[in-house]
Amino acid sequence: MPKQVNGQKDDSVTHSDPSDSFEEEARAFFSDEEKLHLFDDLTKVNPVTTTTVLKCLQARYAVNLFYTNAGCSLVALNPFQSISCLYSPELMRDYHVALRPQDLKPHIFAVAEETYRNVQSQIDPINQSIIVSGESGAGKTWTSRCLMKFYATVAASVTSPKGNETVERIEKRVLDSNPVMEAFGNACTLRNNNSSRFGKYIQLQLDRFHHLSSASIQTFLLEKTRVAYQAPSERNFHIFYQITKGATAKERLEWNLPEGADYRWLPNSEKNLDEDCFKVTRDAMFHLGIDHSTQNNIFKVLSGLLHLGNIQFYNSLDESQPCELEDKAKDFVKTTGDLLKIPVEELLEALRIRTITAGKQQQVFKKPCCRAECETRRDCLAKVIYAKLFEWLVLIINKSIYADPLVWTNFIGLLDVYGFESFPENNLEQLCINYANEKLQQHFVAHYLKAQQIVALIQANNTTDISGMKNMLLKV
Ligand SMILES: Nc1ncnc2c1ncn2[C@@H]1O[C@H](COP(=O)(O)OP(=O)(O)OP(=O)(O)O)[C@@H](O)[C@H]1O
Ligand SMILES: [Mg+2]
Repeated sequence: MPKQVNGQKDDSVTHSDPSDSFEEEARAFFSDEEKLHLFDDLTKVNPVTTTTVLKCLQARYAVNLFYTNAGCSLVALNPFQSISCLYSPELMRDYHVALRPQDLKPHIFAVAEETYRNVQSQIDPINQSIIVSGESGAGKTWTSRCLMKFYATVAASVTSPKGNETVERIEKRVLDSNPVMEAFGNACTLRNNNSSRFGKYIQLQLDRFHHLSSASIQTFLLEKTRVAYQAPSERNFHIFYQITKGATAKERLEWNLPEGADYRWLPNSEKNLDEDCFKVTRDAMFHLGIDHSTQNNIFKVLSGLLHLGNIQFYNSLDESQPCELEDKAKDFVKTTGDLLKIPVEELLEALRIRTITAGKQQQVFKKPCCRAECETRRDCLAKVIYAKLFEWLVLIINKSIYADPLVWTNFIGLLDVYGFESFPENNLEQLCINYANEKLQQHFVAHYLKAQQIVALIQANNTTDISGMKNMLLKV
């Protein structure tokens, strides 16, 4: 290992006015460049600067070391390639049976196992949560899936569900929630082909034998605007591409999705992604207990939304009259009405007429909307329907993985919020996403710095006795 003396500086090594000792430390640090990859814990890096930390991570990445500890946090780098041995069942087992998993190489399985043991030890705080944070495309959802697979394996329930062979085991149902939620809540963005457009917190609930007995999912901030607006080079939610690419001939007829038809809300459909696989979503829906007829209804609603997006209006010459529809739009109104089960007249009124209730008598006025207002109403209708559908789907999934609280005693929570992002044009969604991420980051930076300070204090005071350490902990 390179010589490791702990300390902490806020500036980068390229600072214009560094102190002599600081420069010396930095020089010493870089003189051991070929050993940088050996730093498996960033709290051991000295001096701590953006450059030294990044250099270490870069050196580790170059030799296929994708995980590094940072005190009690784990830094994961995205390899952007499949490295099967990194997630093999054998490796999972190694971490699970290790006497001290934290002594093995830094790995997401070490975090998973330590968390599991914390719950098993029943020492307060018994329930544990793992927060996965990072910018868009960093690998949060991948990591969350790894964690879920780990617990589905090491904490597998012993019994089959209520002796019923047609119901999938709880671990399978929990894992199957992923492809369904991702099909409806993820989309291809400029930063990530499978970008989560919602935040997710899943609670994996364990019985008194620490076996997975049930789970519950909570979602946050679905980016519903994406249904009716996709930035250039981005796409709508995966599920729309899955149904248009994967429906059978019979389903195309039933859902009114002729092959090769154009939908304004389905841009960049020529891009074929792994995430376009309809079968994966359908199989998972079946395993979660969503039967064929319910699935059929869901996909009809989605097709209805695509047709709704094709309804376009002409400016009305007479303000007292509703906007006319473009010629082709008349067919789309009819198919939208059929698919969404809304009478055509009602749909047209909802899209083109504003109802105002005013005055003491609560008089009702009907005012035709201008073209721009009609378009806004159309988009809002789509967003509301999609958000309701998503909410309902989460409810159904939760019913499928739910168990009475009497059955479970503790839980492990996993939080996968969508990551930092900055696009050429940013909206309220980006503000909310980035604000939530900054709050999380603040929390972790505070923890990291605290760990740094503790180690530095212990070293500076050369203290090994517990009471001395305790006093120092109180200082930070
Ligand atoms: N450990 C890994 N091994 C191999 N590939 C990975 C790994 N982590 C991430 N990837 C690849 O990177 C892509 C992006 O990762 P992921 O979708 O998890 O990002 P994210 O942090 O959840 O982003 P967003 O905030 O946009 O949802 C994955 O689809 C996968 O191809
Ligand atoms: Mg994600």
